[in-house]
Amino acid sequence: MTDLSTIVAAAEPDGIQRAATLLRQGRLVAFPTETVYGLGADATNDKAVAAIYGAKGRPDFNPLIVHFTDLDAAAEAVVFDDRAKRVAAAFWPGALTLVLPRTKTCAISLLTSAGLDTLAVRVPSQPVAQSLFRATARPIAAPSANRSFSVSPTTARHVTQDLSGRIDMILDGGPCAVGLESTVIDLSTPRPTLLRPGGIPAEDIEAVTGPLAAAGEGAPRSPGMLSRHYAPNRPVRLNAAAPRDGEAFLAFGPNSGNATMNLSESGNLNEAAAAFFAMLRALDSDEFEGIAVAPIPEKGLGRAINDRLRRAATPETSSETP
Ligand code: TXA
Ligand code: MG
Repeated sequence: MTDLSTIVAAAEPDGIQRAATLLRQGRLVAFPTETVYGLGADATNDKAVAAIYGAKGRPDFNPLIVHFTDLDAAAEAVVFDDRAKRVAAAFWPGALTLVLPRTKTCAISLLTSAGLDTLAVRVPSQPVAQSLFRATARPIAAPSANRSFSVSPTTARHVTQDLSGRIDMILDGGPCAVGLESTVIDLSTPRPTLLRPGGIPAEDIEAVTGPLAAAGEGAPRSPGMLSRHYAPNRPVRLNAAAPRDGEAFLAFGPNSGNATMNLSESGNLNEAAAAFFAMLRALDSDEFEGIAVAPIPEKGLGRAINDRLRRAATPETSSETP
């Protein structure tokens, strides 16, 4: 994805409409929020969400924040208990992200949650972001709009420097008012936990929640914890040329006549990444005694898929995950 001609448009009504149309088509649009620029995609579209990881060059499926116009919209995707409602009422719209359990009917791509049963949700206050979400009428998955290992962008120009040629459009809404990513707190556990300090001071949040448990920088419940949160019940056998008796066969690429499912018949790793969690989940069924998985190329998103596969294939007892 390095050959797109990226449209840069002012965040005027025309540009916002055009951006909304692209988002509804599954394309990638960078947009301003009050914290940093986000790299947005339709959060209900697996392929669009997979494309975010490709454009960022993100080495793994670190879970993404999903953005909504308001709490009611967010409540279709995650469960708000009384505590979460209080916190949302105090800080939304604003620079706070809440990690909450997915609802049973949650329509958000599993890739957005990176296999976790929680989802990070946020309602930004930035008027351009709000107009864009209303025009799109979809939940918007958006990490910061930078290449992996680069700092978060706070102007459209930063986004251009990092992502021009890799995404469809950049909406220029001027510099971000906060300039720091949102504060991320985990409210899916009995004790509220600070996962990432950010645009809203922890003390302000503690005034509502009581003391926040500390977690190191980063997201302790993201990829490193994945095998604990989502390992198939059935044994997973890697680099399989064909299934054995009783096994499901998760294939990749053409000429896989004996496939139970195929991650991508054309051998496209972005497509495979989009399908991966849903297929693994579907194959983890009583119909099968195990899941055999074809070799996946160790490049691009294939590396992330292989990392998850290795975790899935590691017996829980020998896992070194803390
Ligand atoms: O201000 C922001 O939060 C910006 C704007 C665009 O909203 N977004 C942003 O996204 O910074 P990103 O992907 O760069 O950072 C998201 C953080 C990561 O540390 C990720 O691990 C964590 O949120 N996260 C997302 N979903 C999570 C989940 N279900 N559980 C734990 N951590 C999660
Ligand atoms: Mg980031």
